[in-house]
Amino acid sequence: MYRRVVRPVLFRLGRGDAEVAHERTLQGLRLLSRAPGLSRLPLGPERTVFGVRFPSPVGLAAGMDKNGIALRSWRALGFGFVEVGTVTAHAQPGNEKPRLFRLVEHEAVINRMGFNNLGSEALAARLAAYGPLGYPLGISIGKSKITPIEDAVEDYVTSLRRLYRYGDYFAVNVSSPNTPGLRSLQDAGHLRELLTALHDEAAALSVGGMAGKPILVKIAPDLTASAIDELLGVCTEVGIAGIIATNTTIGRPGVSDHPLAGETGGLSGRPLTEIAAKTVAHIHAETGGALPIIGVGGILEPTDAVRLIDAGASLVQLYTGLIYRGPGLVRRINRSLP
Ligand code: FNR
Repeated sequence: MYRRVVRPVLFRLGRGDAEVAHERTLQGLRLLSRAPGLSRLPLGPERTVFGVRFPSPVGLAAGMDKNGIALRSWRALGFGFVEVGTVTAHAQPGNEKPRLFRLVEHEAVINRMGFNNLGSEALAARLAAYGPLGYPLGISIGKSKITPIEDAVEDYVTSLRRLYRYGDYFAVNVSSPNTPGLRSLQDAGHLRELLTALHDEAAALSVGGMAGKPILVKIAPDLTASAIDELLGVCTEVGIAGIIATNTTIGRPGVSDHPLAGETGGLSGRPLTEIAAKTVAHIHAETGGALPIIGVGGILEPTDAVRLIDAGASLVQLYTGLIYRGPGLVRRINRSLP
């Protein structure tokens, strides 16, 4: 039904501009969120990971609801958690349009949105107005474009401070390909400094000497195995709660023949399935399963989610699968999980 009826309509909106379809979908979901009783529908198997109870292990990946405008709706689609953001300390418009491209034959997307968002202050105000959501909220933070890379730490810490009370976990995004220099923060030296500052800030913000809320690191699928191992060493040393693997790739695996393959940006969807699973398996092996993993990348079928969980992920997230397979995918995954 989605693929034959809804998708062709969505893909024609704005003369095929993928961002117009995205905006309309989000607005539609926002209206849906006014319907009563949405948050009481049953979900998939519950699990507790890094001390947080998830009503289902299937979450909405960062980037879809950056400003948290449809947070009352996602649970009705079957999501057990949502990651809002990536937000930055300063509101910013992102890159020039067009900046989102569908490679339909490959069930893939290339995006170079560039963290278009209303800023962490606006997100904090919106989250304050929502009250309890009934599911765990992850908040993804990144660096503002105008902030020089040497001042990145303060930019991230500012957002963490503003949003701390509203998140159940925080994702440190050092892996978007669309902010110049951002991925250099994955290098051990920079990463140690950034994560230590965030970890200390979380501890300082926690009441009564309680441990700080979980901080996770989201990594690129383009790191070498040795770069991942070095990064994992830093994460363990600092006391990071988990890894989100993976963000979009700057590679063009299997799609280089497509007319849009030359567009700058990160690739997601089907071409990521294999890379994400391998990255998750590598992290799981390297850490002996001690560090929780959120697996993300190329989930278009329930079997793709099961594969990530079999590779060692405790939770999964998706984004591009929603575009190609529609919202029914989430419930199908929930039903197929043990
Ligand atoms: C993303 N992704 C992303 N990730 C992130 O950490 N912060 C962000 O702001 C965004 N923004 C964003 C925008 C768009 C349009 C897309 C398609 C993706 C990456 C996303 O969360 C996920 O890691 C990858 O897309 C891989 O998963 P899927 O899409 O293959 O399920």
